[in-house]
Amino acid sequence: MGTGTLLTLWVIVWALYGGIVTYVVYRRAGHRGLPGFGIGLLLGAIGNALFVFAIPESEILDSAARAVMGAFGSFLLLIPLWLLLSRQGKRCPYCFEIADPSATTCPHCGRDFPGLAAWRPDGSVPILSVRGLTVEYAVRQGRLVAVDRVNLDVYPGELVALVGESGCGKSTLAYSLIRHVTFPGEITAGQIFFKGRDVLTMTPEQLRQFRWRDIAVVFQAAQNAMNPVMRIADQMIDTVQAHEQMDREHILRRAAELLEMVRLEPDRVLRSYPFELSGGMRQRVIIALSLILEPEMLILDEPTTALDVVTQVHILDILREIRDRLGLTMLLLTHDMAIVARVADRVAVMYAGKIVEVGGINDIFYHGLHPYTRGLINAAPSLVGDLSGKSPIPGSPPNFLNMPTGCRFHPRCKYAVPKCRERVPIMESVDGRQVACHRWREIANMEA
Ligand SMILES: Nc1ncnc2c1ncn2[C@@H]1O[C@H](COP(=O)(O)OP(=O)(O)O)[C@@H](O)[C@H]1O
Ligand code: SF4
Ligand SMILES: [Mg+2]
Repeated sequence: MGTGTLLTLWVIVWALYGGIVTYVVYRRAGHRGLPGFGIGLLLGAIGNALFVFAIPESEILDSAARAVMGAFGSFLLLIPLWLLLSRQGKRCPYCFEIADPSATTCPHCGRDFPGLAAWRPDGSVPILSVRGLTVEYAVRQGRLVAVDRVNLDVYPGELVALVGESGCGKSTLAYSLIRHVTFPGEITAGQIFFKGRDVLTMTPEQLRQFRWRDIAVVFQAAQNAMNPVMRIADQMIDTVQAHEQMDREHILRRAAELLEMVRLEPDRVLRSYPFELSGGMRQRVIIALSLILEPEMLILDEPTTALDVVTQVHILDILREIRDRLGLTMLLLTHDMAIVARVADRVAVMYAGKIVEVGGINDIFYHGLHPYTRGLINAAPSLVGDLSGKSPIPGSPPNFLNMPTGCRFHPRCKYAVPKCRERVPIMESVDGRQVACHRWREIANMEA
């Protein structure tokens, strides 16, 4: 075998290697493509160097061939080094492309950079920023990704509704904001910033202080989980004293103020046991209790489920009133669009573990861009309008262990095209709102 044959073979091997690495890494590894590709080339270059220098100089590998092969290997080595070390700008952690140092959103993949507050035109900064949050449950059949690379910003004083069908991941997302993911769940990726503090790196003591004082949560059906043998007053005192040194009198004074705010009679309620109160009253007690340490943000998980419509409306009105009086930031989880319509300032729509659209209440209700958002609104029977025009979204939510490829909504979407099955739509920012759908522009034009 002469030098020419050897070089030809060597080029073929490299071409095959490059093709396989590109195919496997780009097609399979999604957004981790470039680092993977860079590492592939790095290993290839090292392999090449070993090959070139391990074979002794001979007729077939003369010094000229060795020089060409060595130079090519070094060139390959330069590519990953350039990718990894390039300082032309900021590297996107999702697609690994370079962006302008001042950018807050990657111009290549459209994702927001972690840890960077997305500024609003009015200059306000989010109180809560979630970036690339991923939460998984280890179940018998495998790993179930209940929340998949979610980004979300909540601004001070606003009431954001997180809406989606049951089982889409709302509670998992909300509870992970205070790192309260129940076993066998685990936060496996992402970042959570509350007023610039990194929640995921807090120590147990910092976390204990953070819960209730910074973010309080009204868990789903919490009104049914009250201690049945303790008077409301004692439950309130216990809760506060678990977090703060405060005397009984002070706690009871504060509790009475809050009970009044939720339109309950303080004296009577504080003396009562939970069973002496109705479901709606217990829910209002829980809301008052959650406010006792003066948190800046309140998360409410389905706060009106299982209550009659009149009580629901009453509680929603109280929530808005509290928000206005205390300037509280709220995240309200619900599957019910009628509730969203009544209270929310902004809406984040969640489908199968991903947020698919975020927008102001009017945008979402009157100009929803994502077909799922439009489906939810068309399916909400309690909204104003002609009931006969309401229709449920066809099909059912996907199995988390067997997620559809590409856009997760494609099996139920009347606008789906082949691209929807192949590629995951990225979140695009449009006039202060966000949507993740390949065809939102065409759909908006079609329906205009
Ligand atoms: N403790 C758990 N163990 C295993 N899977 C869970 C657990 N809790 C939730 N899940 C899964 O995570 C998905 C999201 O659940 P959840 O966050 O409760 O949704 P939502 O609040 O929107 O109804 C569900 O489909 C469910 O399969
Ligand atoms: S990406 Fe395709 S399948 Fe998904 S919502 Fe948009 S049109 Fe429908
Ligand atoms: Mg839930």
